[in-house]
Amino acid sequence: MALFREYSITERCLGPVSQLADTPDWIYTLDNPYLHGVYAPTLNEMHVDNLPVSGELPADLVGAYFRNGPNPRFQPRNRHHPFDGDGMVHGVYFRDGKASYRNRHVQTAALAQELASGKSISPGVMGPFDYNISRFGIKDTANTDVLWYAGDLVALWYNAGDPYRLDGNDLRTKGHFNLHGRAQTRMSAHAKVDASNGELLFFDYGDEPPYMTYGVADARGNLLHEVAIDLPGPRLPHDIGFTQHYAVVHDLPFFHDMNVLRKHGYRVLTFHRDIPTRFGIIPRRGQSADVRWFECQPCYILHVTNCWEEDDWVVMDGCRSLNPMPDAQAGEGKLASMLAYMRLEANAYRWRFNLKTGEVREGDIDDLNTEFNKSNPLFHGVRSRYAYHQRIPLLHEGGHTLRFTALVKYDNDTGRSSQWDYGVGVFGSEAVFAPKPGADRSCAEDDGYVITLVTDSKDWTSNCLVFDATDIAKGPVARVRLPQRVPFGFHATWARGEELYAVRQILEPAR
Ligand SMILES: [Fe+2]
Repeated sequence: MALFREYSITERCLGPVSQLADTPDWIYTLDNPYLHGVYAPTLNEMHVDNLPVSGELPADLVGAYFRNGPNPRFQPRNRHHPFDGDGMVHGVYFRDGKASYRNRHVQTAALAQELASGKSISPGVMGPFDYNISRFGIKDTANTDVLWYAGDLVALWYNAGDPYRLDGNDLRTKGHFNLHGRAQTRMSAHAKVDASNGELLFFDYGDEPPYMTYGVADARGNLLHEVAIDLPGPRLPHDIGFTQHYAVVHDLPFFHDMNVLRKHGYRVLTFHRDIPTRFGIIPRRGQSADVRWFECQPCYILHVTNCWEEDDWVVMDGCRSLNPMPDAQAGEGKLASMLAYMRLEANAYRWRFNLKTGEVREGDIDDLNTEFNKSNPLFHGVRSRYAYHQRIPLLHEGGHTLRFTALVKYDNDTGRSSQWDYGVGVFGSEAVFAPKPGADRSCAEDDGYVITLVTDSKDWTSNCLVFDATDIAKGPVARVRLPQRVPFGFHATWARGEELYAVRQILEPAR
């Protein structure tokens, strides 16, 4: 293990220096902190029912929490970045006061190719990009986002790859996810489902024109609308927002130099502090020319909490970063290039755009460093107040990128928050809001549960925590002991029991 002591940051990644039995042996031959400790992949795929519970699972907690994340199957052929691992979905299912767990890799085309050859084939984001191996230049892992749409889970990749459909009940990969009537197959992570009508609002982006498209599909997987969004060049947008009548697309001044990518096969990212951030507001079925752009202070934004309309205004809550570049002086050192565009120095923020006058108002909701912000999905598109973030201490606070130390509930109208610390050495996952069965917008916005997964780096146990959303600070009302260690991950979603457990098939199999 001496190799890993080369990095001071590694000590904080590892937890106790011991070999984990559920990981592949090859990770111990690699001098890369993002393959160890909370980042270490698991070899296990399992299904276990009747999990032990501390506290009491609410009878009206019916549905499942799903979380996607990177879990590399084979030893990487280039320098491993934490974005690169093969997608693996972990699911915790709740019903009748009991809980079950299941996890499976997303069987992507790239993983199937590697399983057939017994080794890693595609390069990862550290490059060099190779378009002879993958049309994306790197491996499409479907490891970033997961959402419930048209009767299936959909696994999505941040780099706008080919999404996959998974059976929500057994996590089996059914195949590619293609919308009927859409020739293009790429779709970015953070497509959004409008709970009021089941519509899917999505976008994709890439290095060649059109640099972004935006589209809408109905609740049954049929494309309704798709248009090109006019951007000045290739960008790395990560999310969109929507209101009852509009979608909000992002043009962020944090992007890579295409000449370097073409010549050398590497993405070199720069945050252009002299270029304003722009948000484009387009009617949900609008044309390219209908986009109204609003210029804001230069920033990067990963995740939108919610958007809505107030008279002439469109309001957008999210987390804003003024410093998305890695800081070589702050201890990241030689890892700095690896950490590019995964820095999460961000805080809760509100933008307001006046559709009549073009005025922009923006400002902090709070200055605490948080991200992976979620809210009640029933209120997406309409005015909402509460959000559930992950606390991410900064490096000088002893923190580390993508390690979540607490759940923070915000009242975005007042900036007040309440918090539950996961505990020393315990790290969380993105939390989701679970509405109660039959709940709709007539219910109180925080009448439901907040669910997350935590992994304890002291003994490598993992638990699923269930909070009463009205009172996060009192701690979880139930704690479900999972049958294995769950590595760190990215995004999560909630599937409501009335949809997940109903035997029905909405979306036709991909052809
Ligand atoms: Fe994301």
